[in-house]
Amino acid sequence: MKSFEKVFGAAPQAVGEAPGRVNLLGEHTDYNDGFVLPIAIAQRTRVAMRRSKGPHFALHAQGQGATVRFTLDAPPVEHFATYVFGCLRLARDRGARIPALEIHVESDVPMGVGLSSSAALEVATLRCLRQLLALPFDDVLIAQLAQRAEIDYAGVNCGIMDQMASSLADTTRALLLDTRSLERRVVELPPGSAVLVIDSGIARSLAASGYNQRRAECEEAARLLGVASLRDVDGVERLSGLPDLLKRRARHVVTENARVTLAVACATAEAFGVLMNDSHASLRDDYEVSTPELDKLVTLLQAQAGVYGARLTGAGFGGACVALCRDQALEQVAATVLEHYRAAGQIGTVLVPPRGAHS
Ligand code: GLA
Repeated sequence: MKSFEKVFGAAPQAVGEAPGRVNLLGEHTDYNDGFVLPIAIAQRTRVAMRRSKGPHFALHAQGQGATVRFTLDAPPVEHFATYVFGCLRLARDRGARIPALEIHVESDVPMGVGLSSSAALEVATLRCLRQLLALPFDDVLIAQLAQRAEIDYAGVNCGIMDQMASSLADTTRALLLDTRSLERRVVELPPGSAVLVIDSGIARSLAASGYNQRRAECEEAARLLGVASLRDVDGVERLSGLPDLLKRRARHVVTENARVTLAVACATAEAFGVLMNDSHASLRDDYEVSTPELDKLVTLLQAQAGVYGARLTGAGFGGACVALCRDQALEQVAATVLEHYRAAGQIGTVLVPPRGAHS
């Protein structure tokens, strides 16, 4: 790996890679023990490591000038470095003897748009460490440690979808995951369809605090209903006694779980698309994690003849939208939607398929 050698003057001893993901359906269900349906994206994060002579860890991310130095005793102040630090600490807690390391990170996973750049960094770090130290960590354990790193060290009380997707999903078929049992199976995309992801250009604001607040609301709703989690609520009728806000939050989760189950049972792209549209409405009205710009972009996508369905993807509060398109219409849809979005005063960017991958 050239860039590692440039920074550290020798070749790495191990390399680990992991992709970002886009979630097709099942949003804000994972921390409610529910169902999700993500697919990996082509963009990946690559982590390389080499044992270092000194007592310190040295971490260099491509494109960032300085190399961050730390020991395992105290978290580094640089935010991106805390993900790596968290993974190293958690691996140590599992009994790994971690030597001081030189670590290099490069990535083309778009950051801060809901495509799980942090999960890709965590999973790639753990894969690299597994290779370097011959650790007996399987892909599920790697996802679990990666999720822990996010919760304990990055302060987002997230579910396990992103890390499971980064660790186990591939780019051609979706991963249906039961986040309670971790049972999973691969699901083909509806025939003739393709995934389009467009960034709204609106940075996610309140993502961490809003996210943690939604999670707390769901836990409160489950407590009032006397269930372990909202996964255990089998119909919206059971929500009638809840205060209005909690009722709407819980209704999103209950109906979203049902949509995932229906989507994997339905053969057509049209039916799948309707479920995506319904998901967006629910995220906008009941869960309140959309923004005017995301709504605009989704409306533009949904108005295209070549689009089966569209919704915001990821946590919301800004970031990207995902659409299921007729594969032959994808380029046309993207061009038209970006043009209309620009006319409305906003600049969008196609993130999936990655630029240059689809001609
Ligand atoms: C973020 C979290 C996931 C999941 C989604 C919303 O990506 O990391 O665990 O909760 O938001 O579906």
